Amino acid sequence: MKKIKYGIIGAGTMAREHILNISLIDNAEVVTLSDPHEDSLNQCKEILKTKVSCFKSHQEMIKENIVDVYLISSPNFTHIGILKDVIKTKKHILVEKPLCTNTRDCLEIKKLTKDYPSVFWTAMEYRYMPPVSKFIKEIHNNTIGDLKTLTIREHRFPFLKKINDWNRFEKNTGGTLVEKCCHFFDLMRLIVGSNPISVYASGGQDVNHLDEEYNGKKPDIIDNAYVIVNFENGARSMLELCMFAENSDMQEELVAIGHKGKIETSVPSNDSGKIASNLRIGMRDGKTKIENIEVDKKIIEAGHHHGSTYYEHLAFLNAIKNNSVPEVSLSDGLIAVAVGEAAEKSIKLGRLINIEEIIN
Ligand SMILES: NC(=O)c1ccc[n+]([C@@H]2O[C@H](COP(=O)([O-])OP(=O)(O)OC[C@H]3O[C@@H](n4cnc5c(N)ncnc54)[C@H](O)[C@@H]3O)[C@@H](O)[C@H]2O)c1
Repeated sequence: MKKIKYGIIGAGTMAREHILNISLIDNAEVVTLSDPHEDSLNQCKEILKTKVSCFKSHQEMIKENIVDVYLISSPNFTHIGILKDVIKTKKHILVEKPLCTNTRDCLEIKKLTKDYPSVFWTAMEYRYMPPVSKFIKEIHNNTIGDLKTLTIREHRFPFLKKINDWNRFEKNTGGTLVEKCCHFFDLMRLIVGSNPISVYASGGQDVNHLDEEYNGKKPDIIDNAYVIVNFENGARSMLELCMFAENSDMQEELVAIGHKGKIETSVPSNDSGKIASNLRIGMRDGKTKIENIEVDKKIIEAGHHHGSTYYEHLAFLNAIKNNSVPEVSLSDGLIAVAVGEAAEKSIKLGRLINIEEIIN
């Protein structure tokens, strides 16, 4: 069987997770890498089982025309420029979240990819964490009735150190609620099955990176927030984010309540060493069901996202094979960025932001 050939643009932390996961899949392989940073290329080469060609720029890689898929895992602010070049190849694209650092750039990419002939997929790993997938499936099966409220809580460690400290500044990342939390806004929209209409947020940078300075500039990324999102169908959702809570047993906790009952699950933090968590369904009539959801240790060990990167690649490869629409489209990536941008704006202006103010 012909293997799908990946070219990875941006060979840092997330690229290494992609490489380890792709290596677990029979019909896929990484054949080339591009990164201006020699050390990053070397670290990726160390974990690759086969020889790959390496380039300092994505333009040189594109010229070689040796891949089926371009996987973009470079810093957020580089996505727009790289995407503009990669789109011209008409090859399959898997672009790491956030699609771009702001909605305007996402809209530009949307315009440029009208009638795109291949799979264009925004990476949203959290959809593919086994307890989260099961949680979504139960809600969509109507187990708890009409969904009314959805709460997502993430308690985690601060942003890690990055090359050139790109992730310390909002202009490079889009801000924490775009960079990190686009995952959760994507999940909310998928779970609720409706589009967001307005966002209200409160948040700040209260603990992390306060003593850091880069070329005379202090980091400007928030480390905690509450974000409330109202949906067209009347459901409401809330995100609670705290990034100075590294000693947490569960990193993410999700609770959804419908008119018939409640469902909850959680995702173990990496440091907890746990490979399983519970999914609990508590019906208002008194019935309770608890399921233990375990992830294969080999898959857990290939990354930091509780097995999700592996499962997302399987779904992505399936879309290529079947020539089907992507499960996570460019528009999904765009709306997740728009909600993040609205939340950042809400914190700055201290008022509710209508999504129409962001996507117009
Ligand atoms: N889906 C997830 O859960 C998840 C998790 C982590 C990171 N990410 C995303 O993956 C991307 C990379 O994050 P990371 O944590 O690996 O960052 P990183 O800093 O560890 O790696 C980025 C790499 O890109 C390289 N780079 C910089 N400019 C480049 C360019 N123009 N072309 C090619 N390479 C370039 C850097 O030298 C570095 O090696 C970001 O968009 C980030 O938001 C997603």
